[in-house]
Amino acid sequence: MTKTQPVIEVQHVCKTYFMEGGNSQSVLKDINFSVNSGEFVAIMGPSGSGKSTLMNILGCLDKPTSGTYILNGQDVSTKDDIALAKIRGQTIGFVFQNFNLMMKRTIADNVSLPLVYQNINERTRYKRAIEMLNRVNLKGYQSRLPSQISGGMQQRVAIARALINNPAIIFADEPTGNLDSKTSDEIMELFTTLNKQGITIVLVTHEDDVADYATRMIKISDGHKVYDGLRKEYSKEKDKPC
Ligand SMILES: Nc1ncnc2c1ncn2[C@@H]1O[C@H](COP(=O)(O)OP(=O)(O)OP(=O)(O)O)[C@@H](O)[C@H]1O
Ligand SMILES: [Mg+2]
Repeated sequence: MTKTQPVIEVQHVCKTYFMEGGNSQSVLKDINFSVNSGEFVAIMGPSGSGKSTLMNILGCLDKPTSGTYILNGQDVSTKDDIALAKIRGQTIGFVFQNFNLMMKRTIADNVSLPLVYQNINERTRYKRAIEMLNRVNLKGYQSRLPSQISGGMQQRVAIARALINNPAIIFADEPTGNLDSKTSDEIMELFTTLNKQGITIVLVTHEDDVADYATRMIKISDGHKVYDGLRKEYSKEKDKPC
């Protein structure tokens, strides 16, 4: 795939949550953008503005109420849960704020978990896990439990797990939210290295220092996209529905 092809196309995406008792909340309102292969995008915006809702749609963990989401040229907005799980396994790596590791399983088991669902044998899974741990600078840690390593290392394990299917895109929802600033920088440097290796990165952050690692910034406010452009050209005065 060339650098200029869109891997993500979001067209008129809206998301409404319907609650018990007939209440509903419109959270994403006519969101439009595309992301080319190889981009590094930071999604920002106030708490409750809809960032995680958008990320969950982008990461095929949820579907839009209306509008179209095209991932790698495929319309995924109407796929069922089984099809979405398959697409997630083939194309996407997802990294969460709280790492989402299995605390009673070894680091190697955590990293190789996505391969279990593909019926890949244990020996191959272990070999692939070791390769991914090398890639995130955690050589030799495969037999430890998550509780025996630091928070930053746990996030590296989560990134290794996200990498194991060789994804074209990594989505990360506040991946540094639970880390101190030095460890955050290390994690962001790792994302930068992966981006230079050709992986498209889309991450949510509240922190300006973290967003500065991205080249492009998309800002969401009250469900509307209010900025979409170069991160270094962003200034608050430019916020307006776009
Ligand atoms: N599953 C859900 N059901 C109902 N409402 C939801 C659901 N998930 C999120 N919301 C609501 O949608 C709005 C946007 O939530 P979202 O989690 O996307 O915000 P956010 O920008 O990620 O916030 P934060 O920065 O605090 O993580 C909030 O008002 C939230 O309460
Ligand atoms: Mg959120």
